[in-house]
Amino acid sequence: MTLYRIHVDQLDEPYPTADDQTLLAGMERLGKRGIPVGCRGGGCGVCKVRIDQGDYRCKKMSRAQVTLEEERAGYVLACRCHPLSDIRLTVIGKMKKAVLAT
Ligand code: FES
Repeated sequence: MTLYRIHVDQLDEPYPTADDQTLLAGMERLGKRGIPVGCRGGGCGVCKVRIDQGDYRCKKMSRAQVTLEEERAGYVLACRCHPLSDIRLTVIGKMKKAVLAT
């Protein structure tokens, strides 16, 4: 297991996530108030983020939530994505309000 640093563009503090955890699981462990928990299965789109820097691997995501063009531009669902390096990301989906409110 390798631990990576996930840096959310809108926040000062990076949070750790292991390569066998999803980016969303790491975010939830932060214990931030109001992180909306959706389906955790790549279907609802609540956890949409844009990866600005770093390597990652994603499991299957709903095309209704992330189009092919978006995926190519780095948009992913955090519940379906594992880090392969330190990551910089921007929160896009419904999570954004909750993340910024903390
Ligand atoms: S929690 Fe539903 S798509 Fe990620």
